[in-house]
Amino acid sequence: MHLIVTCAVGLEDLLRGDLQQAGARAVVSGEGELTVTVDEIDVVRSNPMVDRVAMSWSPGAPLEDAEKLCRAAGFDGDVAFRVHEKDPTVRDGIVRAVGYQTGWRNEPGDWQVNLVPGTNRAEIGPLAWAARFGAMERLPATTPPSVAAGVLRLAKLQPAMALLDPCGGVGTIPIVDAIGRDGRGLIVDLSPESIALARKNIRTFGLKDRVFTEEGDATYLDLADASVDRVVSDVPFGKRIGSNQENDTLYPGLVRELGRVLTQDGRAVIITDDKRRFADAVARDRSLKVVKETALRYNGVTPTAFSLTRVRARGR
Ligand SMILES: C[S@@+](CC[C@H](N)C(=O)[O-])C[C@H]1O[C@@H](n2cnc3c(N)ncnc32)[C@H](O)[C@@H]1O
Repeated sequence: MHLIVTCAVGLEDLLRGDLQQAGARAVVSGEGELTVTVDEIDVVRSNPMVDRVAMSWSPGAPLEDAEKLCRAAGFDGDVAFRVHEKDPTVRDGIVRAVGYQTGWRNEPGDWQVNLVPGTNRAEIGPLAWAARFGAMERLPATTPPSVAAGVLRLAKLQPAMALLDPCGGVGTIPIVDAIGRDGRGLIVDLSPESIALARKNIRTFGLKDRVFTEEGDATYLDLADASVDRVVSDVPFGKRIGSNQENDTLYPGLVRELGRVLTQDGRAVIITDDKRRFADAVARDRSLKVVKETALRYNGVTPTAFSLTRVRARGR
């Protein structure tokens, strides 16, 4: 089957590599988009970097494959659809034709197939991230789970490693990690509201034995020196959360603590849109160095994921 798969802009090559390794033929066909040919839908379904899945469709084209994809994704009810088209005359015409062609219900608020004539796509709802893995409680600055999956890949986590997210919010990053890896995670956040939602998400995903929470400050972590293998965090950009001035204090304090708590072979991946301030904080601190910068784009933000390792002392 031929699919159109979306991910955050900047993660296309990582996703293509994963899908090809799993047996799919995958080609980057646009920003944040891959065209994928697979025999088994599970190759796409099981990859947490995949945000949404669609197939090519234009008005009048058959829709049997869209229904087959819904079934393959585990949906066994009556398929409902919506037509994403602003012009009411065009929309009503397509709604009538598709209803006649397929017998599906038109249910704009609760659909399995979203028909988008403007992009010639049929989006398959049961293959969206939340339908595949589970829906999380969110806040406005919550990291999209498919983005969390991508930055986790950059962190090169191994099975037994401990993961810390010191600005963990509702816990997306350690939770997405624990869905795919048999390791422990710790979510630290200053905000009691975020920590309460993180606890709820941990319960929803059945992860309370592996993912833990702590209300605390990323600039004064209650953790021993050299005790954390990996840190992955989407830190305040100073736009939706905090301010650029607050980042003048937050970033140097965070970098100092990363240098203290990371193990000798530790690695951190930090997402921020306040790039210059973060890069300056790393350069001034001198305990860590930037080994890779991955430019991302999703939901109207354009942050960079900075991959950091320790600066090794001379002679070691
Ligand atoms: C971009 S959001 C985190 C998004 C998170 N990955 C999620 O999915 O919810 C940044 C978070 O940093 C937290 N924060 C801000 N300053 C902090 C500090 N000094 N220590 C710990 N957390 C902090 C905010 O409360 C917010 O939850």
